[in-house]
Amino acid sequence: MKKSEKLVTLTIDGREVQAEKRTPLIKVAKKVGIKIPTLCYHEALEPYGVCRLCTVEVVRGKRTRFVTACNYPVEDGIKVWTQSEKVIKIRKMVVETLLARCPNVKIIQDLAAEFGIKKSRFENLDEDCILCGLCVNICSQIVGENAIGFASRGIDREVDTPFAMPSDICIGCGACSWVCPTGAIKMELETVERFRKLPGNERLCRYTLMGIMSYGLCANSFRCYHCEVDQRFRDQLNTHPIFAARNIEIKPVKQYFEFLERTRKR
Ligand code: SF4
Ligand code: SF4
Ligand code: FES
Repeated sequence: MKKSEKLVTLTIDGREVQAEKRTPLIKVAKKVGIKIPTLCYHEALEPYGVCRLCTVEVVRGKRTRFVTACNYPVEDGIKVWTQSEKVIKIRKMVVETLLARCPNVKIIQDLAAEFGIKKSRFENLDEDCILCGLCVNICSQIVGENAIGFASRGIDREVDTPFAMPSDICIGCGACSWVCPTGAIKMELETVERFRKLPGNERLCRYTLMGIMSYGLCANSFRCYHCEVDQRFRDQLNTHPIFAARNIEIKPVKQYFEFLERTRKR
């Protein structure tokens, strides 16, 4: 296929853009500086497409559709509107529903404020997980452990370990907590407790378990904050260590190394 056959031309908010065919719309928009809000999307993971916050309007010929930009592959000739009245209405509904589910979660409160929503019309729950799936997906797709997954259905759906038993495959890397937008998951803290019960010669350092360091035993009872190894990698790495371990380039974000700091007081 010639290079030109791989390229498609579309417009986003009236602006003509060329992109490689089937690139997720969100990436094309980002490249030209158009920001689309997301909750369940992370550039290192397969798009999951559950939160619907990234909804945009796509016009193709006479047909208009509302699609999720994170998993919508661009096509030639489409017109995309990321801020139309209907798009904002849909996003407001998404945020209002999330506000009812998680009224005390900061990121949802901030989103609600951004959309001018003071209160949700729906019945308030007091959950802290928005079921975005980022933790589950980072564990399976990047860490390669599948230590957590979704359990139950409907309103009982939640993130849990298989059979709700303490996980014996979690390596305590903290990638799930790091990626979680709400602070709902603290898997690595449970795992640290399990590690602390192990005999000294089995207490492998988490950097070893992540594959960053060939072999090291923890002499600090997994209080990483007090450890020289941790300090050294803090200085060297510029993202969550699991991305460095898997050779994935991800720009630093605010959760940087937060997971290790949470073990500080324990
Ligand atoms: S801390 Fe455990 S559950 Fe979380 S990503 Fe790492 S291995 Fe998976
Ligand atoms: S625990 Fe966090 S990352 Fe996992 S599904 Fe819930 S909100 Fe998303
Ligand atoms: S970010 Fe696209 S559906 Fe959640």
